[in-house]
Amino acid sequence: MNNDKIIIFDTTLRDGEQSPGASMNTEEKIRIARQLERLNVDVMEVGFAAASRGDFDAIHQIAKQASNASICSLARAVDGDIKAAGEAIAPAKNRRIHTFIATSPIHMEFKLKMSPDEVIRRAVRAVEYAKTFCDDVEFSCEDACRSEMSFLKEICDAAINAGAKTINIPDTVGYLYPEEITARIGEMVKFINGRAVVSVHNHNDLGLATANSLAAIKAGARQVECTLNGIGERAGNAALEEIVMAIKTRSDVFAPLYTDIVYKEIYPSSRLLAGIIGIEPQPNKAIVGKNAFAHESGIHQDGVLKHKETYEIISAESIGLDKNSLILGKHSGRHAFKDKLVSLGFELEDSALNEAFEKFKALADKKKEVFDDDLRALVTSEIIKIPEVFEFLTLTQSSCNKGLSSAAITLRHADEIKSDAALGNGTADAIFKVIDRLSGINGVLKDYKVNAVSQGKDALANVVVKVEFNGKTVIGHGLDIDTMTASAKAYVGALNSYVKISATK
Ligand code: KIV
Ligand code: ZN
Repeated sequence: MNNDKIIIFDTTLRDGEQSPGASMNTEEKIRIARQLERLNVDVMEVGFAAASRGDFDAIHQIAKQASNASICSLARAVDGDIKAAGEAIAPAKNRRIHTFIATSPIHMEFKLKMSPDEVIRRAVRAVEYAKTFCDDVEFSCEDACRSEMSFLKEICDAAINAGAKTINIPDTVGYLYPEEITARIGEMVKFINGRAVVSVHNHNDLGLATANSLAAIKAGARQVECTLNGIGERAGNAALEEIVMAIKTRSDVFAPLYTDIVYKEIYPSSRLLAGIIGIEPQPNKAIVGKNAFAHESGIHQDGVLKHKETYEIISAESIGLDKNSLILGKHSGRHAFKDKLVSLGFELEDSALNEAFEKFKALADKKKEVFDDDLRALVTSEIIKIPEVFEFLTLTQSSCNKGLSSAAITLRHADEIKSDAALGNGTADAIFKVIDRLSGINGVLKDYKVNAVSQGKDALANVVVKVEFNGKTVIGHGLDIDTMTASAKAYVGALNSYVKISATK
């Protein structure tokens, strides 16, 4: 085993997707998975196969398309979960089942209602059964960081003897601080003594997930579980970009340890995820936040102009944020357009490329300069979208600052063109009411966000809505120069997503 390489186990599509509002449809998951391959993660945990038909299908589709990365599904230590995981990942060249059971006294007593001996028996059975589907099995002790050390050793020993190749020690509730992680992981590494890879999985409840992951690496862990932009349950998981850039930037501390991550894909990966789930990293988020490379104060600007390293320990270019990148306009040709999309990580088939080019031309007619973020948003919202059962055609609106507003909308549904109009408390309310009426499906708006995609008064509006239809919450995106048109497109997008999910259930 190469003891210098840190295995990057990305769980954006599993633990990350568990964060409120971050759920994705199959097409969106496939897009993220393709980008994770470009980023060159070693393992991607792409879902929890037993959770739903939709999760199973998404894992299966990704497994069919994966090339190098190992495709992993999570499974509780129960036969049904493991079977679903094994079947879902079956088409992948490299595959892994990740099975887990809780090991802390509080979880065993109150959640599992099982004795420690029973928990060990379940763990052993789970690993043995998982081995019948694939050789690469990971075993996790949920809430390991509040578990008794002696019990942790006993159960990990049993899991290794049953065939587990990776032992994961998660800090499920983000409780420990770095020195405690160093001690705990150091002791487990010594105990396991090379019989399995020791992995860590830190949650960020106290803002320590990255620090704890790095402490674990220094203590001998050789796999880190993390997510793009640090998304995940509650305060999130350890952020992939922070961990890998810390290992790279502080090679004086970490060498000879390294990762195989392609750094230039970090920023495109972060943007793609944020665009799809409609959750922007906080502006001051390390590495990928909007302000991570912005110098506001005069003293800092002066220093950076004289010598970049005065205030920059990482270059923006190294993570793929090209501040001087070519801006396209209405005279840009198809070739430059295609090259630009490829550089942004979008390799479209001919028909999608033609459609994107037409939309780009229409946009460039309205907007002088088309920035990278405009193109990312255009492709994410307008080209790579789920099949449109309902297609938005037109919107006529009138707003009134002292009374009701109105909206008239035309949609295509199958081969039928349908129009209707409604009044509302504000134009957006009127728009959503008409769409409900036209589709016959009532939605409850849970969240509405509008972002200017790039700079300038003519910036594109990117609207993200979260809508609940019949108890199921889905996300929709809409992009347009006009904010209300973008809102209508976003709502129709959410509706299509709901129709698609309902059809696969
Ligand atoms: O946080 C956690 O403990 C997990 C396990 C399932 C690995 O996500
Ligand atoms: Zn977790």
